[in-house]
Amino acid sequence: MDRARESVASLLGVEAEDVLFTGGATEANNTALLGLTRARSDAIRHIVTSAAEHPSVDAPLEVLEREGWRVTRVGVDSDGLLDEGQFERAIASDAALVSILWANNETGVVQSMGQIAALARARGIPVHTDATQAIGKIPIDLRNIPVDFLSLSAHKFNGPKGVGCLIAKREWTFEPVLHGGPQERGRRGGTENVAAVVGLGVACELAERELPDRMRDYAELRDRLWAGIESKIPGVRRNGSATCALPNTLNVEFEGAAGELLLQALDVEGIAVSSGAACHSGSIEPSKVLIAMGRSPESARGSIRFSVGQGNDGAQVDYALSRLPDLVERARRAAGA
Ligand SMILES: Cc1ncc(COP(=O)(O)O)c(C=O)c1O
Repeated sequence: MDRARESVASLLGVEAEDVLFTGGATEANNTALLGLTRARSDAIRHIVTSAAEHPSVDAPLEVLEREGWRVTRVGVDSDGLLDEGQFERAIASDAALVSILWANNETGVVQSMGQIAALARARGIPVHTDATQAIGKIPIDLRNIPVDFLSLSAHKFNGPKGVGCLIAKREWTFEPVLHGGPQERGRRGGTENVAAVVGLGVACELAERELPDRMRDYAELRDRLWAGIESKIPGVRRNGSATCALPNTLNVEFEGAAGELLLQALDVEGIAVSSGAACHSGSIEPSKVLIAMGRSPESARGSIRFSVGQGNDGAQVDYALSRLPDLVERARRAAGA
């Protein structure tokens, strides 16, 4: 556990004592948001976040809203980037906490976290970021970026499932969410999952060593995929900034296609993709991230996310490209386009 703590700290440029092991990023996000707000006794009951967060940030914020907190959800532009003017206006009325997703799980869009955190910290506001998708895919050095709380999950960068951590800088006090044990310096009660924690540490060591190679390899595969899609299939659009982006994620709208059907058809062919759509009481809700970027519900429903990672190669990308045109055609017919 000591070595794993050092490995996380070294990857992110933080002190080992600031690493708090959790059961994943969902727990880390809940701990940061609920723990920090519950430790505040002043009158500032306002949190600033974005309109394109992961559900594990949205849901605890909804809990806080029910407890009387005000939450401002700053919009994103059509590229998925945070509206910085709106953000500055939101924090100008003071806030107890800022929480902004570093890299989006659906589009791969990477926010200018250095700038965002600096704006908040200049006003003395603590900054939390869900960096789950960013870790192991882009360089992150908290010696240069004034983030106070950061959540991550090991399985997003080749570690085991069910373990993650919250970086929690010591200058901030927060209430533990799990009470009843002295573990993690009294900040998270309950015996740690030692085997998984060791796995997280190894994933961090590998990420630190291999990051430049991974970034190059992932970007090469992603770009090959996008170039092939663009040249073979008409009526496609890339969702999200192509420059402020993770190297491994590609979100594409296939105009007029039924995204969920395309996803299922690809699955049958052995190609695993995902859509941001969520199933609510039997109907398919379009991705709220794409809606926040100004896409219509139809555009959002026709969008799917491809991601590449360890073990993927050019032959697999070419296989996907050989199947896509026909499957997109069918998904368009099914949608009546
Ligand atoms: C951005 C982001 N935050 C949080 C999570 C939740 O991670 P976990 O399920 O490991 O708790 C995920 C997982 O999909 C994610 O992509």
